[in-house]
Amino acid sequence: MNNNQPIGIFDSGIGGTSIWKEIHQLLPNEKTIYLADSRNAPYGQKSKQEIIDLSMKNTDFLLKMNCKLIVIACNTATTNAIQELRSKYSVPFIGIEPAIKPAATNSRTQIIGILATQGTLNSELFNKTTEMFHDTKIIEQVGHGLVTLIESGQINSPEMSKLLHSYLTPMIEANIDYLVLGCSHYPYLIPQIKKILPPHIQIIDSGQAVAKQTQNILRDQVGFSTAEESTPIFYTNSDPKVLSEILENKYKIEEIDF
Ligand code: DGL
Repeated sequence: MNNNQPIGIFDSGIGGTSIWKEIHQLLPNEKTIYLADSRNAPYGQKSKQEIIDLSMKNTDFLLKMNCKLIVIACNTATTNAIQELRSKYSVPFIGIEPAIKPAATNSRTQIIGILATQGTLNSELFNKTTEMFHDTKIIEQVGHGLVTLIESGQINSPEMSKLLHSYLTPMIEANIDYLVLGCSHYPYLIPQIKKILPPHIQIIDSGQAVAKQTQNILRDQVGFSTAEESTPIFYTNSDPKVLSEILENKYKIEEIDF
């Protein structure tokens, strides 16, 4: 393993770029390869076995690109497949999980809300985490339809606003003081969510924590890149337009049949 090999990052689509941005900002010298499996999005409604199979396929692709470390920039893939990935491959994996701990620890009302996919909320890993915080009431809401709208470039659409209102209003009424965004697509909805939530409700996601953890694993196990600078590479197996837009058209997107 050579320090200057790239970090591989995958998601079911474009949402994991919210995690890529945090990693790129914290570790600008690291070469990154991002894989958007948008053709198979959303993962959230798929069976555990389908999510494992897709996650292995994504990992095989990134390993062919010689990645030294893999970041699963998808809560659904992490909570359903990280154990199987770690047992099959020797490359280190970093996963993303909903930030229940900081929300539950800091909540004053002891009532928090989480918006995530069905696959994440039903997973054993997520349920083990929530059991540890049984003093906190956790209001779980599946974000049906949100990923599909984001993947089709409809972040600011009236449909999005309607769905968000219907998911968040019961949480506001239940007196949450934290909203956990448990899907890597959802940070792109923060401006919309802020229009709906009263200002005292804090919104948290796990992007910065994943970047920090990536830094720790590089420091302790894998090694930092010694390159002066790096140009990230993005791959998608679907229409590159929305991925390019979410990256403010700053990067070239490679289309692959995958
Ligand atoms: N972005 C993913 C997550 O963090 C998956 C969304 C999906 O494909 O349903 O859960």
